[in-house]
Amino acid sequence: MRDIRVALWGFGAMGSGIAKMIASKEGLAISGVCVRREHLVGQEVYAYLGIDRGDCDPVIITNKIENIVRRDLCDIVILATDSFVEAQFDKIMFCLDRGVHVITMAEEMAWPWAQNEELADKIDALARKRGVAVLGTGINPGFVLDYLILALSGTCEHVESISAARINDLAPFGKSVMVEQGVGISVEEFDRRKAEGSLAGHVGFPESMAMIAAGMGVELTDIEQTRDPIITNVDRESAYGEAKKGHLAGIRQQSYGRVADGKVFIHLDHPQQICPEDEGVNTGDYVTIRANGYDMNLSIVPETPGGIGTIAMVVNMIPHVLGAKPGLRSMLDLPVPRCILGNYAEQVHRTRDRQFLRGELVSIESVILPVGERAPQVPDDTQRTPLRVFTKGFLQEESARRGDTVTVKTMSDRLVEGTLTNRSVSPTHTFGDYVPELMTVHRQVFDILFGGAGK
Ligand SMILES: NC(=O)c1ccc[n+]([C@@H]2O[C@H](COP(=O)([O-])OP(=O)(O)OC[C@H]3O[C@@H](n4cnc5c(N)ncnc54)[C@H](OP(=O)(O)O)[C@@H]3O)[C@@H](O)[C@H]2O)c1
Repeated sequence: MRDIRVALWGFGAMGSGIAKMIASKEGLAISGVCVRREHLVGQEVYAYLGIDRGDCDPVIITNKIENIVRRDLCDIVILATDSFVEAQFDKIMFCLDRGVHVITMAEEMAWPWAQNEELADKIDALARKRGVAVLGTGINPGFVLDYLILALSGTCEHVESISAARINDLAPFGKSVMVEQGVGISVEEFDRRKAEGSLAGHVGFPESMAMIAAGMGVELTDIEQTRDPIITNVDRESAYGEAKKGHLAGIRQQSYGRVADGKVFIHLDHPQQICPEDEGVNTGDYVTIRANGYDMNLSIVPETPGGIGTIAMVVNMIPHVLGAKPGLRSMLDLPVPRCILGNYAEQVHRTRDRQFLRGELVSIESVILPVGERAPQVPDDTQRTPLRVFTKGFLQEESARRGDTVTVKTMSDRLVEGTLTNRSVSPTHTFGDYVPELMTVHRQVFDILFGGAGK
């Protein structure tokens, strides 16, 4: 079974951490890295990271995304560039257009329907058309203050309200996060930027709230957010941020989700700062679910590590995204995230990946014309796609699994080699999805021909 080829778009604190984790895993391969910083372009990824390349092919860092995101070059792209759906939209559409799956850690993509429904619908439509999946995930949003709460609530018969807090250290994150969190700015600048709405703070509360509400079938009528500065009494310094005494070490952000009777159903509290230990602040994740007459309390002390947690969530979700139903997916749609200690490629379609035996009728896939050898007159998007053929035939090997290279004997006794798929050997074609535009055309034709008889 071949490795899953992963392209990285964005190579800051998280992107480079993801590359290191991939390099340490079986069944995953880094297929390309795209950056903005000129000084990285042309460098070899493993050498740059200072890790052993082993048998892996060298990967040269590029600043041209079109060189690494193509269906014949990679299976999935990890986006580790920015936080907002609007900023992600063109990048995601670019990847989908090229027929590759996407995982993004942009906070708003964890539940993009919360504030960007129109763009989310467009992403969903293109992903379904191209037969690939998109997922937004991370440590938070994506896990601690949404998914973990939902998973815990699964043990309750009834939930009256939820409160949860994540007291964390921002130090592992890169410069984008320092800027969003106002690390190092003065209190005056915080007040001014808060008033003019130009300080992002924690991105993702509306998304976490909406995910919890949708997952539990609760309607939130109002989501309130508050922001207070965390002012440091000592000088603090982390890899990507610095806060002098009297300036901001971070922001405490809280959010209240209310239901129709005005009661707070969800309260989320998220004080984030660099180096909290410099002032004796202990980190931790806390969830309290007020159930039917009792409280359920979960604490993770110290916090779930934010940097490692984000990197691991993204990498561990790769096989689940490859096996997902095409479209824009959320953490609620996919199998439970888990640390994969074996081969990642084996976790794709885990339940459907059975063994095929000699003589069984199977379907294999082979590439007739790779990208670069397509006829010059075919359209651009066709040029970017290899010409593949699926052949049905009787398996010649003793046994094989999806992804193995095998030989089949066709009904006309030809021997054909290719990659074993788990496509059904029964015909499954349809006349396609309902197309609303064609209904309009249908009515127009009836109007013209029969004076409206088709209405
Ligand atoms: N959901 C979560 O739980 C979670 C957790 C962690 C991080 N995040 C988010 O994920 C993003 C990345 O985090 P980080 O800590 O890795 O930030 P970072 O260290 O600032 O890295 C972002 C990198 O992306 C690069 N970049 C931006 N636009 C690009 C483009 N068009 N092409 C190529 N490279 C591009 C930047 O390049 P330059 O150096 O040239 O600017 C930078 O190196 C942030 O927005 C952060 O808020 C989410």
